[in-house]
Order: sequence, then structure tokens, then C-alpha cells
Amino acid sequence: MLITPRKDSLNRIVILNPKGGCGKSTLATNLAASYAQRGAVPAVMDYDPQGSTMAWLERRSADLPTIHGIAAYKKSMQATRSWQLRVPNETETLLVDSPASVDHDDLRELTRDSTSILVPVLPSSMDIHAASRCIADLLLVAKIDRRDRKLAVVANRTRKNTKSLAKLMRFLDSLGIPIIAVLRDTQNFVLSAEEGIGVCEMPPSRVRPDAEQIEKIVDWLDAWPQRRRDSTSVTSVNKIPANTRSLFRRAQLGSV
Ligand SMILES: Nc1ncnc2c1ncn2[C@@H]1O[C@H](COP(=O)(O)OP(=O)(O)OP(=O)(O)O)[C@@H](O)[C@H]1O
Ligand SMILES: [Mg+2]
Repeated sequence: MLITPRKDSLNRIVILNPKGGCGKSTLATNLAASYAQRGAVPAVMDYDPQGSTMAWLERRSADLPTIHGIAAYKKSMQATRSWQLRVPNETETLLVDSPASVDHDDLRELTRDSTSILVPVLPSSMDIHAASRCIADLLLVAKIDRRDRKLAVVANRTRKNTKSLAKLMRFLDSLGIPIIAVLRDTQNFVLSAEEGIGVCEMPPSRVRPDAEQIEKIVDWLDAWPQRRRDSTSVTSVNKIPANTRSLFRRAQLGSV
């Protein structure tokens, strides 16, 4: 899984959560549309054999700002893997959409060299259990250092003030992982997916709260150089607490 050009300056955003249907492709496509609207050509890399993000790109009109697509789930016999996964030189932002099931080796590979990792979470008890396992794997298997502050959660399809959202917030708070945006449950995301656009490309009066949340995520993502600089000055406060495993177990049992 080699990304050859401009490795140091590439904003490599990985979106993952092995729970199917939690909103990975929705986030990848909406963030790509938002970056494209600003002028630079972002790239999306789709590792999911379902190819939802590539299919979205195919539905996208040629009149809209360009997004480069890389079908990483396809294995080509004619080209080397690094050639197949090459990112155009002008690309500054790469959004990686991941499949629903990711083994430990793939998790390490996917997150290597990432500048940010986003975990979309639906606020049902089952989804929160799955998300807690995913975050445990990111910290304990992929060895994501929380001092780098590259890991964040996006609460998706959320109705405000639910018990499960409060539980998710308490759990993440105990680990110092931020929820950087809360996306409401709305047909705007379904329609934009069908049309190969992002909510930021729909009539503003209709999508304002949704587009604002996507912008909030972009702002957080764009702060990665600052977060990286800050991480070197942060000391023991952000170390993984000794009781991390028991926190995850309690979250899985629904008692956090
Ligand atoms: N905030 C939302 N409001 C309404 N519908 C949503 C929202 N987010 C996602 N959806 C819809 O939920 C379905 C699943 O979303 P999506 O495909 O993004 O999930 P995924 O995590 O990529 O799934 P998979 O694991 O199968 O790849 C899609 O039909 C999508 O349009
Ligand atoms: Mg998907």
C-alpha cells in the first residue's frame, strides 16, 4: 500500500469503522466534494470491494469540480500496486474509504502515514459497542498515539439528546477523543449520494445545518499540521490510561 508522491505534505485522511452502514462512504464523498469546491483537486481512494465511493464518482457530472478516484479494491495484473495507488502530484488531500471488515494487518496498513483518522458512529447501543472495539484496535493494535490527536469521531444520523449519544460522549471523553461533528439523519445525504454530489453542492437553504457540520470537519482536518506540532509538546497527560481495556469492556457491556 504505497503512496509514492509528496508523502510528507499529503493530507491523508482515513475513514474507518468496521460496522457496515455507519457512514464511511457518506463522509468520504461529502468531504471530497467540499475540498473540490475550494479549488484544489482532492483524491478519494476506495478500498471497499462494494466500490460505493467510485460509483458515486462515476455519477458525478463532469461540470462539477474534479475529484480524482483510485479504485484500491481492484487488483491489476498489468500495473504494480504502487502505480495503481499513485496519487496525482497536484493532490494535497486524499480521502481513504475503507471496507466494512478490516483485519489487524490491514488496519495497520490503512492507518500508516495518516494525518487524520475519522470514525463515523451511529448512536445505537450496538453501534457504540462496535465503535468502542474499533477505537480499541486503533489504539492498541494500530498503535495510534493519542498524543498525535489525529483520531476523532463523527456522530452520524443522530437525534439530539438521546441516551446513547450521551453514553458515547462519556465514553470518548474518558479517552480524550473528540466528537468533531454531529450529522443529523436527513434525506439530503441520501440524495447527494444518488447524484454524485456533496451536500455543499446542494441548495444552501435546504442543507445549511448539514453543510456546516461538513465544514466543521474540514476545519478540524485542515488543522493537522498544527496538531502534529502540538503533539510533540504534549507530555504524559494524554497517555493511554492504565484502565483502557476495562473502559472498552465496560463500553461493550453498555455501562460507561
Ligand atoms: N446522516 C445521514 N442521514 C441519512 N442517511 C444517511 C446518513 N449517513 C448515511 N446515510 C445513508 O446510510 C446508508 C449507509 O451509509 P454509507 O454507505 O455511507 O455507510 P458505510 O459505512 O460506507 O457502509 P459500508 O460499511 O457498507 O461501506 C447510505 O444509504 C447513506 O446514504
Ligand atoms: Mg462504504
